[in-house]
Amino acid sequence: MNTHKPLTAIIVGAGHRALTYAAYARQHPDELKIVAVADPRELRRKQVAELYNLPAENCFECAEAVAARPKFADVVINGTMDHQHVPTALPLLAAGYDMLLEKPFATNEAEMWDLVETARQYNRKVIICHVLRFTPFYAAIRGQVLEGLIGDILNVQTVEHVSYHHMAVGFIRGKWSKISDCHSPMLMAKCCHDLDLIAWMKSGVPPRGVSSFGSNFQFRPENAPPEAGTRCLVDCPIEVDCLYSARKHYIDHPDRWSFYVWESLEHLQNPTLADKIRSLETDNPYGRCVWKCEMEVVDHQSVMVEFADGSTATHNMIGGASRPVRSIHLMGTKGEIQGVFEEKRFVIRHIDPRPGHEYSEKVVDLNMSGDLHGAFGAHGGGDLRLVRDFIRVIRGEPVSISTTNLEDSITGHRIGFAAEQAVQAHRVVRLAT
Ligand SMILES: NC(=O)c1ccc[n+]([C@@H]2O[C@H](COP(=O)([O-])OP(=O)(O)OC[C@H]3O[C@@H](n4cnc5c(N)ncnc54)[C@H](O)[C@@H]3O)[C@@H](O)[C@H]2O)c1
Repeated sequence: MNTHKPLTAIIVGAGHRALTYAAYARQHPDELKIVAVADPRELRRKQVAELYNLPAENCFECAEAVAARPKFADVVINGTMDHQHVPTALPLLAAGYDMLLEKPFATNEAEMWDLVETARQYNRKVIICHVLRFTPFYAAIRGQVLEGLIGDILNVQTVEHVSYHHMAVGFIRGKWSKISDCHSPMLMAKCCHDLDLIAWMKSGVPPRGVSSFGSNFQFRPENAPPEAGTRCLVDCPIEVDCLYSARKHYIDHPDRWSFYVWESLEHLQNPTLADKIRSLETDNPYGRCVWKCEMEVVDHQSVMVEFADGSTATHNMIGGASRPVRSIHLMGTKGEIQGVFEEKRFVIRHIDPRPGHEYSEKVVDLNMSGDLHGAFGAHGGGDLRLVRDFIRVIRGEPVSISTTNLEDSITGHRIGFAAEQAVQAHRVVRLAT
């Protein structure tokens, strides 16, 4: 039986992500209670106030207004956009709040250290939303590594194939297409998870060098078919044949990425098909031709890391794939682990030099483990498991192996910031160990 009072939480940035985590409060009201919201958007404040029955005095226009009031809740769920994480977090940490903070939690190294120093100064707990660590898939792999099943890791290979529709909605037409707006390069916005997984698998061994190459290979104006228009539903004679047609992506698949695509229709309770088509024809950024969005980010990038013990890792991020795939291959001195996240299964291999043998192989199939999507929601079950651990951290209870302190969570970000420098300057970036 739970003898604790529920932890009280303030939602800061009432967008898609913060509301996903906050949903834990509705499933487990004995553990978490949402008591306030801060968001400059009145509509979002109102929706959250209705959902969680919040009094008007607990609805704030911004994080700073929450921080200006004496502390009145246990924690903050900070789901603001990338470049707002640190500016919104600092006053809240100073005001006394522990925090669940979205990734990438900083957009440059100086900001990252500001956050870490502030958390240290006020002795606050900050858990970064590295949700993949909390999925049964990656947690099980980490468990095998911790048990020493494959010995010391000498190489990690991770790959993320970003699907064509995810690429278009996030990085071509969407919120992460312009570094000047979101301040995050695609590698950090999309793959700080994978860099964190690499760092986590090598936990305790600092990275000492990073190199990286990448570019926008495909989605450039000069690659547009000559007949292409500027808006799929307005002036494009080849829309019916285009793989990136906004009609095919967002009208024919009405639920896919709807929280991004129909953000400009949030004020309508139930936008009709006609509303959606009008929006894609007029001011909706998701109605634009993918070749002509003037995106500022790469569509593929490769990263190579050297750790202080001489081991290495690579991450390949490729946007525009036919299906989303995240894979991992760990090579250890005693064995190897290889798996594909979406398949929810991995294999563990060991050398077997006996006559008639070459290697032994054991399959770990997590499809059998029940609540992967059901009770624990998206990201392969990671989102709400993360919240569960966050609550335990605050209560001082034992946590799963997925939770580590803030210092351990920054290594992947350090690799990402170094990769960005490396790709810009075409050089190897050395890191202090
Ligand atoms: N962990 C993951 O796997 C994962 C997945 C997707 C996105 N993300 C990250 O989650 C974050 C949020 O993404 P989203 O799509 O939910 O964003 P969003 O734009 O829907 O929500 C952000 C909200 O913050 C509000 N806001 C802006 N300034 C504020 C301030 N000063 N105080 C309070 N609120 C403020 C905005 O009005 C907005 O409602 C991003 O950093 C994104 O990179 C993480």
